[in-house]
Amino acid sequence: MAVQNNTPPEQTTAWRLLAEHQRQAAELRLHGEFARDPGRAQRFSLGLERLFVDFSRNLITDETLSLLLDLAGQLGLGEKIGALFSGQEVNTTEQRPALHTLLRVPDDAGAGIQGNGEPDGMARRVRQERDRMFAFVKRLRAGEVRGSAGKPITRVVNIGIGGSDLGPRLVNGALSGYHREGMDIDFVANIDPFDIERALARADPETTLFIVASKSFTTQETLVNATRAERWLAENGCNDTGRHFLAVSGNSAAVERFGIGKDRYFKLEDWTGGRYSIWSCIGMSSAICIGEDNFREFLAGAHALDLHFRSSAFDNNIPVILALLSVWYNNFFDVGAHAVIPYDQRLEILPAYLGQLVMESNGKSVGTDGNRVGTKTSQVIWGGAGSQAQHAVFQFLHQGTRISSIDFLLPLTGGHDRAQHELLVANCLAQGEALMRGSANSAEPHRHFDGNRPSTTIVYDRLDPYTLGMLLALYEHKTYVEAAIWGINAFDQWGVDLGKTLAGQIAAELAGGEPPGSHDASTEQLMGRYRSAQRN
Ligand code: F6P
Repeated sequence: MAVQNNTPPEQTTAWRLLAEHQRQAAELRLHGEFARDPGRAQRFSLGLERLFVDFSRNLITDETLSLLLDLAGQLGLGEKIGALFSGQEVNTTEQRPALHTLLRVPDDAGAGIQGNGEPDGMARRVRQERDRMFAFVKRLRAGEVRGSAGKPITRVVNIGIGGSDLGPRLVNGALSGYHREGMDIDFVANIDPFDIERALARADPETTLFIVASKSFTTQETLVNATRAERWLAENGCNDTGRHFLAVSGNSAAVERFGIGKDRYFKLEDWTGGRYSIWSCIGMSSAICIGEDNFREFLAGAHALDLHFRSSAFDNNIPVILALLSVWYNNFFDVGAHAVIPYDQRLEILPAYLGQLVMESNGKSVGTDGNRVGTKTSQVIWGGAGSQAQHAVFQFLHQGTRISSIDFLLPLTGGHDRAQHELLVANCLAQGEALMRGSANSAEPHRHFDGNRPSTTIVYDRLDPYTLGMLLALYEHKTYVEAAIWGINAFDQWGVDLGKTLAGQIAAELAGGEPPGSHDASTEQLMGRYRSAQRN
């Protein structure tokens, strides 16, 4: 069943009132607001278990929030959230649900946790596949999974791209403190041969297992790299390459054609979007790194956020509030970029992960009604780890002519030297304050800071598996709420197809097997330069 409310947001009363209200909000001086209103910081903050979100340094008043909440109500957000959890076909162009939340429902949650529409068989299948994954992890960790020469596997290489790479890679880095000894993990994503060759150079063909992670099992990059890995194994004396592979995919036939047996095949349901798949067996390499208990904690954190998202009133609902803020900036202040700055080195690649999550989900121009949208959709997601970003891109944030909205992320405790961690904390807090407060200097205009630049700060006790699960689920739901407001489908990605088709044509032409196509002069010129480089 399709999701109902297709009202274009700009046709709601709340949208019109927000546009009028924006003129007053643009005059707000945040620093003055804090001085005037001692309750501001507390009122514009929300906590949930180990998370605390301070959104008080945004260009909002109580009236702004109230109008944004009206907007959510007028667009049927509650109904749309219900549709997500209950398995309705929220992915309208592919006629399927998006049930990533089902992947993190704990074993003992009982029936019906997903809501009325949940087909019980799905939950059972999820549990079965998860148990198979953990059983494999256990055998691998016990040294029972052996390569063709009879030696235990000690290195795992995840071959995948996009959602089949960024999630496992992020978890691997973020939870490095939870890694169990005795297993090296590597990642290969790029079609650039440097990527796989670098990984092969440090691998031993007798003790390496390749996880081919691909929902479609048709992705060029992944298949080319997997084929190269297979050739490398054979070139290095492996007489049973199948013992060095495992697949996580939704395409069992293609996995079989590749030569990976059923016992090494882990199923991905078609309702698991690539960028929402870390909770599934796509997380195999993460489960291998951190072990079953920690992986279950990771799922439990996400599930806690799911319950919060599903049941909290909108004014108390963290993903809803953060999404409404991004709508506020994107559509009423024309702020087209959102920076994610983790003051947490372990989350270094979070901006890239969220880049895919948000921009592949919401970089859309057509609404769920099939018409072109009348409003701007996704912001550009960018960023980098603080404090390096301070010494690289913060100039733009402080004195550039464009504004970017910002999320700072900060662990309250680190695992190392307390005094050094405190410097990290001080840097994070200082940046938020400096951006907001500014510093007038008419004598030296180059030293003048306008200030009034908004940011949100998300703090958490420590970066443990549970908290990481909460954080990622928080951003998933924020992304869904944005899509619900803009009236778009967050779960398809047709925009990647055209380039893939053309790349196939150009590759065939460059290989000489196909007659030259009719490309534009620029493409022809660059192809010509490539051909002559091969001759020289
Ligand atoms: O081309 C985009 C995309 O389909 C992403 O959505 C996905 O995460 C990535 O490619 C990898 O796809 P697959 O897991 O099917 O190899």
